Formats: sequence, structure tokens, C-alpha cells
Amino acid sequence: MLKIKLGKIKMRNPLMLASGILCNGSLLKRAATEGGAGAVVTKSLTKEVREGYHTPVVVGVEGGLINAVGLANPGYKAYLAEDLPLAKKGRAPVIVSVAGRNVEEFEEISVAAAEAGADAVELNLSCPHVNKHGMEIGADPATVAKIVEGVREALEIPVYVKLGLSDRFTESAVSAQDAGADAVVAINTVKAMAIDVEARKPVLANIYGGLSGPAIHPIALRCVFELYQKLSIPIIGCGGVSDWRTALDFLMAGASAVQVGSTLAVKGIGIFREIEAGIKNYLVRNQFRSVEEVIGIAHR
Ligand SMILES: Cc1cc2nc3c(=O)[nH]c(=O)nc-3n(C[C@H](O)[C@H](O)[C@H](O)COP(=O)(O)O)c2cc1C
Repeated sequence: MLKIKLGKIKMRNPLMLASGILCNGSLLKRAATEGGAGAVVTKSLTKEVREGYHTPVVVGVEGGLINAVGLANPGYKAYLAEDLPLAKKGRAPVIVSVAGRNVEEFEEISVAAAEAGADAVELNLSCPHVNKHGMEIGADPATVAKIVEGVREALEIPVYVKLGLSDRFTESAVSAQDAGADAVVAINTVKAMAIDVEARKPVLANIYGGLSGPAIHPIALRCVFELYQKLSIPIIGCGGVSDWRTALDFLMAGASAVQVGSTLAVKGIGIFREIEAGIKNYLVRNQFRSVEEVIGIAHR
């Protein structure tokens, strides 16, 4: 009842672990096995090791959290050799998130990920707090096209493109589709900040970070709804899913699958089964035979 097909990829349910929330391979495996996630996405991998920013890198705010982790990761070579094989033991599709600084780096990391056994790659064109790896890429439809075309030509496996809020959000998504993307993931965190009034200065060492959690859900929902009217490729909803209703409304807005991030920090990996049970219950109560029947239903 909850099975879906996302292009070539078959998932036991439409729920995916969002990028960057659980980092090492054994945690990804746990999210898929004990947690029951339909697919898992790795931390975004860069060409070189990145230590990330100085602490504090995360601050809790009303309705979510702001993070500026700074794409901390061991570099793609080490991750693909050590963590990916562990993650794959979870027997759910593993999607490798890629963060390059230019077309060549996106291609190099994506090709290595495919060779190492990734089921798909997710191009992170939208980190709101890292120079050269961030929003400026996804906010420019011409750059999006160049990167997606380059990676698409070099790979057989599906290529997903993760976008964030920008003035040209919809144009960038159309550009990704035209360049051969297999799906668009919407959205990444939203650039934000917090100030400690006692200390009279910004809380995060990096000043700016990305807001995630329930506070951004209505914005992400609007983005998915708009994309459904413009795109013919699948959309993956991401942003502020905290329970079965906020996963189901994404599907009704037109998402074929849904990613869960920050809520894991509060509720743990049990959230996947909790959402799955809630959606299943809704489908039975309303006489739907498959979750695919509710995708985009809010447009009818
Ligand atoms: C601590 C933290 C680290 C993140 N790291 C990444 C990352 O490496 N790559 C990426 O594409 N998104 C990253 N994200 C963004 C999430 O994948 C997701 O797009 C965002 O948090 C919105 O979803 P949520 O509200 O369910 O958390 C990160 C988010 C958080 C909170």
C-alpha cells in the first residue's frame, strides 16, 4: 500500500532520511533497518575533508533549529570507502549527496559515488551557509543546467537536484529538469540567524545558518505545490515534516516522496514507522488502495 516507484528506484514507503542528519554509515543502516526508512541520503560529500565551522554550530529556535555545520565530512573518497558499504547493508536505496564547487567536482564525486554502488546521487545546489558550495549555485538557472548536464552525461544512475529558496527557485527547477534531472528535492534550509541578547551578539560562530523544522514546512509545501504545476519529473518534498499529516500534505501537494530531517533529532528514528502507520491508517480510512493515489490530489 505504501510502496512507491521513484523513476527507476523502488521504495517500500515514500519516507527518506534527509541529508546531513545522520552521518556515518552504520547510522544510515539503522535508519533503514530498525527505522524502516524507504531510502536514506548521506551527508553531502565534498572533494576534500571539511572540518566544518567552530561551535556553536546549531541553535534551537521557535519551530525548529538553525545550523551552520559547514558541510563537515571526511571527503568523498574516505566516505565512499568506509561508510557507504555499511549504509548499503540497510537494504534500502542509498542516495549519495554531492557538494561540489564547480561542474568538474560535481562530476568527479558523482561518478565515484556511482562506481561505489550509490543508487542515486542528490546534487546539493543549495547549502545556505557555505561559500562556493551553496545557494549561489542553485539560485542561477544557467549554472544549474551546466552542472546537471555534466553529471547526467557521466552517470547511469538517477540524478536528483536539491534546491533551496531563491528568487529564481522555479526557474532553477525547470532548468534542472530540462538538463536531465530525474527528480527535484525541495527545499534545503532557509538562511537565518539568532542573536543572544545577553551576550549582544549572534549565537552561531558563523553568524548565519539554515533554518529547518516545522517553521519552514508551509514554505516548503508552497514550493512543492508550485513545482507540481511546472514539472513533469518527480518532486521530493523536504522541510519541516514532523508527523504523518505534514508528510501526507507534501504528497497531496505533489511530492512523490518525502524527506525527514530535524524531527529525527527530537523523536529519533522511530519517526519513520510512526509516520508510515499514520499515513496507512489515513489511506484505509479513506478507501485509497495505494499511496500513489494521493500524490498531487490537492490540485484536483
Ligand atoms: C544539522 C543539519 C545538517 C544538514 N546537512 C545537510 C547536508 O549536508 N546536505 C544537504 O543537502 N542538506 C543538509 N541539511 C538540510 C536537510 O537535509 C533538510 O533539507 C532541511 O533540514 C529541511 O528539512 P527538515 O525541516 O526536515 O530538517 C542539514 C540539516 C541539518 C539540520
